[in-house]
Amino acid sequence: MKRTHHCAQITSSDIGASATLTGWVDTIRDQGGIIFVDLRDRKGITQIKLEPHDNANLADQLKHLKPESVISITGKVTERPEGTENNDLPTGKVEVVADELFIHNISETPPFPLDDEGGDKVNDDLRLTYRYLDLRRPRMRRNLQMRHTVTKAIRDYFDSEEFIEVETPYLFKSTPEGAREYLVPSRIHPGEFYALSQSPQQYKQILMVAGVEKYFQIARCFRDEDLRADRQMEFTQVDVEASFVDREDIYALFEGMLKKIWKEALGVDITTPIQRMSYQDAMNRFGVDKPDLRFGLELVDFSETFRASSFKVFSGTIKNGGCVKAINAKGLADITQGELKSLEDAAKSMGAKGLAFIKIEGGEWKSPIVKFFSDEEKAALTETLGIEDGDIIFFAAAEWEQACGILGRVRLDSATLLQKRGKIELRPDDWKFLWVIEFPLMIFDEEHGRYVATHHPFTSPVPEDIALLDTDPKAVRGQHYDLVLNGMEMGGGSIRIHQPELQKKVFEDVLKIPADVVESRFGYMLKAFKFGAPPHGGIAFGLDRIVALLCGTSSIRDVIAFPKTQKGQDLMAQSPTPVTAKQLKELHIQTDVPDAEE
Ligand code: AMO
Ligand code: AMP
Repeated sequence: MKRTHHCAQITSSDIGASATLTGWVDTIRDQGGIIFVDLRDRKGITQIKLEPHDNANLADQLKHLKPESVISITGKVTERPEGTENNDLPTGKVEVVADELFIHNISETPPFPLDDEGGDKVNDDLRLTYRYLDLRRPRMRRNLQMRHTVTKAIRDYFDSEEFIEVETPYLFKSTPEGAREYLVPSRIHPGEFYALSQSPQQYKQILMVAGVEKYFQIARCFRDEDLRADRQMEFTQVDVEASFVDREDIYALFEGMLKKIWKEALGVDITTPIQRMSYQDAMNRFGVDKPDLRFGLELVDFSETFRASSFKVFSGTIKNGGCVKAINAKGLADITQGELKSLEDAAKSMGAKGLAFIKIEGGEWKSPIVKFFSDEEKAALTETLGIEDGDIIFFAAAEWEQACGILGRVRLDSATLLQKRGKIELRPDDWKFLWVIEFPLMIFDEEHGRYVATHHPFTSPVPEDIALLDTDPKAVRGQHYDLVLNGMEMGGGSIRIHQPELQKKVFEDVLKIPADVVESRFGYMLKAFKFGAPPHGGIAFGLDRIVALLCGTSSIRDVIAFPKTQKGQDLMAQSPTPVTAKQLKELHIQTDVPDAEE
């Protein structure tokens, strides 16, 4: 019984024809003896009908089918009687009257409902344990389809721009300066390890030296990070590198790709060029390097106002080189005690000592600290923050970056509270793209007493700042850019260093990596750069994150067929698992876990 039609294909024009359909039993209804089966395949649903007096034996078999069993059915396409049509289905005007059935596989009762609403209520672990059932749900099927559409649009786009897709190794070498890695023991080199590639960064730069000029890859990357909704240990990057380009070329190339993706995936025209903002401005105004521009609530600096304040928490911080910043959470004076406590805890998790606030209610400023404020200070706050009744003002007094970070967090949490009250609207389809640019090339790592690369050590300094590498490294800006969408970092990249001397200087003199370590880790790159390295740059973005946003889900797990749980497990295949002593021996590995074999 070979399929003649898909379950979404049969329409009124097929009436009278014979059809063979195959698929999964979605539902079975026995209506006064007449059996209805909704048969489902990946394209849709067709209603199968059988009246017992037509074929009692077949009717009995159909009646006893279990949902999710797999069958083939042949029958005649007929028009549904008037009044029984289903206008929600493309096949809703017809049904197939069965006369032959083949049962391929009888299903057990699924452990959760496979419709969107029912399945969404089930806990994630159960869904992941039975992922093959979860993926049968319409929403998950659409997500996989969306991922395919986006991936295809990307390949078509880069192909049309004359980029070629080149695969680079997953088994790479350990580069401990990035994220934590997955190590793979070598059987033939006892005691030596590969590391799974965190990104194709070094290979793609080498491909530029190799003269490829325009490279892209839809590449799997592996990072042993703590998992969150937007992070998996194994994820996919759209990775790009090109020679003889500057930052403007990369912006234009990437904006073209985004335009194509949004058009093909959603039919939406996005406006380009995409807005740009310096890291400094992003931090100052939004308290984060990935601002969500769908709402205001901007941070304001009041250091000048409070420089000589009698409120010592503020004036003291300023005297010590810090700053005072404030934000008006407009209309949030009705915040509950519990909500305020959570905000305080969030601020403290960002290093705040406290979260001073003023509520404005009934024309009155309510706050334990307001008694310290002079009339001039109050007037400055009122004017700059546009204070009105019903507002609440939050303050952070700290070192600049920390003060920004604290209020950046308060801003996001306030927006969530305001959205709950219907006072602001954060629509997932309000696409606010942003390039964040001019990041510092390096930040000082207090703990280890040395500079570390903000992005990675291959990023080129802004040309006019190169001289500062020796004198004031933290003032050097990098040619690094991040693409942000609605508060999520979608991608990042940079123009790279292509001069071996400059790269060596950054490694050794600025990042203080000992010369022998530089040689063993990056010696091959420095060598390659001595054989005609073109100027080059590129970018990579998280495919999972983009697809998640396009599907309107907040978790990238929803757009990955077989993701890991928060604890890094595959609950379906049940990994990770212990391995046998024999396997370990062959790999020259001893574990300090007792009873590894059990
Ligand atoms: P970066 O480390 O910023 O840059 O990664 C690029 C993008 O990859 C996505 N991403 C992740 N997605 C899901 N799970 C994760 N654990 C995860 N980690 C990163 C993010 C991020 O913006 N080689 C450089 C790029 C370059 O310079 O060209 C790189 O890997 O969306
Ligand atoms: P204190 O005088 O220490 O009792 O603080 C008065 C108020 O200011 C309390 O609400 C504290 O939570 C808050 N506060 C203390 N330190 C800071 C700070 N660095 N930034 C913002 N608010 C603070």
